[in-house]
Amino acid sequence: MTKQPTQQWGSRLGVILAVAGSAVGLGNFLRFPGNAAENGGGAFMIPYFLALVLVGIPIGWAEWAMGRYGGRKGFHSAPGILGVWCKGSFGRYAGVLGVLIPLGVYFYYVLIESWCLYYFWKYCTGGIGLDPNTSVIDVQVPKTHGFFGDVVGAAEHGALFTNMHPVLVAFAITVVCNVWFVYRGLSKGIETVCKYAMPVMALLGVIILVRVLTLDAPAGTTGQTVQDGLGFLWNPDFEKLWNPKTWVAATGQIFFSLSVGFGVIINYASYMKKKDDVVLSGLTASATNEFFEVVLGGLITVTASVVFVGALLTSQATGGSMSLGFKTLPMVFAQMPGGNFFGAAFFLILFLAAITSSLSMLQPTKAFFEEALGIDKKKSTTLVTIWGLLGNAFVLWYSKGLTALDTIDFWVGSVFIMVVAAVQIIAFGWIFGLERGIAEAHEGAQIRIPKFFQFVIKYVSPAYLIVILIGFCLNNATGYVETLRGNVTTSPKLNVAGQRDLVASFPAAHGDQATKKLSYAWKQVDGTPVTLADADTKSPSFLVVEPAEPKNFVVKFELTVGDGTTTKTYPVAAEVDVESPGSARRTWVFLLLTIGGLVAVTFVGTRRWRAEGRDLDGRLPATD
Ligand code: ALA
Repeated sequence: MTKQPTQQWGSRLGVILAVAGSAVGLGNFLRFPGNAAENGGGAFMIPYFLALVLVGIPIGWAEWAMGRYGGRKGFHSAPGILGVWCKGSFGRYAGVLGVLIPLGVYFYYVLIESWCLYYFWKYCTGGIGLDPNTSVIDVQVPKTHGFFGDVVGAAEHGALFTNMHPVLVAFAITVVCNVWFVYRGLSKGIETVCKYAMPVMALLGVIILVRVLTLDAPAGTTGQTVQDGLGFLWNPDFEKLWNPKTWVAATGQIFFSLSVGFGVIINYASYMKKKDDVVLSGLTASATNEFFEVVLGGLITVTASVVFVGALLTSQATGGSMSLGFKTLPMVFAQMPGGNFFGAAFFLILFLAAITSSLSMLQPTKAFFEEALGIDKKKSTTLVTIWGLLGNAFVLWYSKGLTALDTIDFWVGSVFIMVVAAVQIIAFGWIFGLERGIAEAHEGAQIRIPKFFQFVIKYVSPAYLIVILIGFCLNNATGYVETLRGNVTTSPKLNVAGQRDLVASFPAAHGDQATKKLSYAWKQVDGTPVTLADADTKSPSFLVVEPAEPKNFVVKFELTVGDGTTTKTYPVAAEVDVESPGSARRTWVFLLLTIGGLVAVTFVGTRRWRAEGRDLDGRLPATD
C-alpha cells in the first residue's frame, strides 16, 4: 500500500467548524434570499424546511458516517468511499461526480469570492462612488449595474483581460490564499481559518442585522419600513407551491447550502476517528448553517433593500442571485449613515463565508489526486491549482452575460448535487444496509438517530429525490436541449425599471400587494420582435418574453397595476438578457473534458488500489 501521510482534525470543535464553514457561504447570503423571494416568500419555506428535514439532515448524517467509515478503509475521496459503500465500480464511477462538484463549483465560486474581496477593498477606500443625493433610478441604478458589469466583464468575452481590470488582482490574491491554506493541510490550514472566520462572521452579521432591523427610512427614500421589508420576503404566495420549480429550487438550495451531496462532508469526515461523534456534530453543523441562512441571510439583505430602494427594485434584483448583493445593496450603503463601514463589513462577511467554502472545494479534489495517483501533497496541490486555474480562466474568459458561470452553477451546483445525494442515500440505506449503516453512524455518537429518521433515510429521502429529479427532467430537458441547439426559448430577466415615477409610486402599492389585492399586467409597446409568453400577475417583477433572435436587447413595456377599483400604467424599459447558446455549448465541452479527466484518474486509481491489494469494494469489515 502507498504510504499516505495521515491527516487529522485538531479537535472535535474544529471539524464541526470546518463543516459549518463549508456550509455557510455565498449560498446563505446571496442565493437564499433571491430564491425565497422569487419562489413564493413564506410559501417557499414550506418545501425548504421539508427538504431540510427529509433530505438535508438525513443525507448529511449518512454522508458523515460514510466518510468516517471510508477513512478507516484508507479512502478520502468520493470515488474511493462510494466504491466501498456500493460494493464495486458503479459507486466508484458515480463518485466521480462527487469530485466534479467541488472542483466545478470552485471554477466559478472563487471568482465571486474575488468580487467580494474587490468590493470590500472599495468600501475600505471610500466606496464605489455613488452620490446619495442623485436619483436612484436615473443615476444610481445605471452606475451600480455598470460597476458590477465592469467587475465581471459582462460586456464581452475576455473583457477583463483586455482592460486588465483590477479585480484580477483580487482574484490572484484569493487564489493564493486558497492554495496556501489548503496546502497547509486540515488542521493548520482549513481548521485554523474556520476557527477565526466563523466567529468574526457571526459577530459582524449580528451587528449588521441589528442595524438593519432598527432602520428608519431616511427622508426622500421609499417610505417603506422594516416591516414592509420583512413582509416582502416572508408573506406567503401559496400558488407558487403548485409550481415544480419551487420544489426543485428549495431542494437545490438545501443541498448547496448545507454542502450535502457535494463531495465535501464525505471527505472531511474521512479524517475522523472511529469513536468520534458524527450524529450530534452533523446536526450542529446544519443548525449553524440555518442560523446564518435564515436569520442573517434572510433578514439582512432583502429588508435593507426594501427600506432604501423599494420593493420594485428589490424584486427585480432577486431574479438573479448576484444582483441583490452586488447591484442593489451598494445603493443602500450609499444612503445609510456609516454606509462605507457597513458595506465593508458586509463584503468582508461574504468573503470569509466564501473562503471557508472554497477551501472545502479544493480539499476533496486534492485528496482524490493523492490517493488515486499516489502523489504527495506538493504535487497534488500543484495539480489541483492548475486544474482549478484552467476552470477559472475558462469562466473568466467567457464572461459575457455570465453564461459559463450560470451553466456550471445550474448543472454542477444544482442538478448533479441531487444525483450524488441520491446515490449516497441509496448506498447507505439499501446497498450497505440500513441497520449496518445506522450502527456505523451510532459508533461514538452522543445522540441517536431517531427511529423516525431511520424510516425517512430508507424510504422517504430516496423517493423524494427521485420524484424531484424526474419532475426536473420532465420540466426542463427538452427546453434546455433546444437552448443548446440555439433555439432560445426563455429570457425572463428584467433588469432596470425605466421611470422615476414607477419607483416613487410603488411603496404605497406594495403595502396592498402584501394583502394580495394588486394585479399586474404587462404589455409590449414598441416594435421589438418579441412575444410576451407569460407574465406574473401576482408580482411586478417576472415576465417571460420570447425573443425572435438569440441576442440581447432593450424592449419597452407598460406595466398596469390594478387593485380592483383603480389602475395605473407605468412605462418600463426591460433589458432582456439572452443566454448565449455558443458559450453554453463550450461550457458543456469543458465540463465533459473535466469529467473525462476525472474518470481517467479514477481508472488509474482503481488499478493502483487493486495492485496494492486494498479492499476497494468494501468486502471486509473496516478496521480501526
Ligand atoms: N455551502 C456553500 C454555500 O452555501 C457552498 O455557499
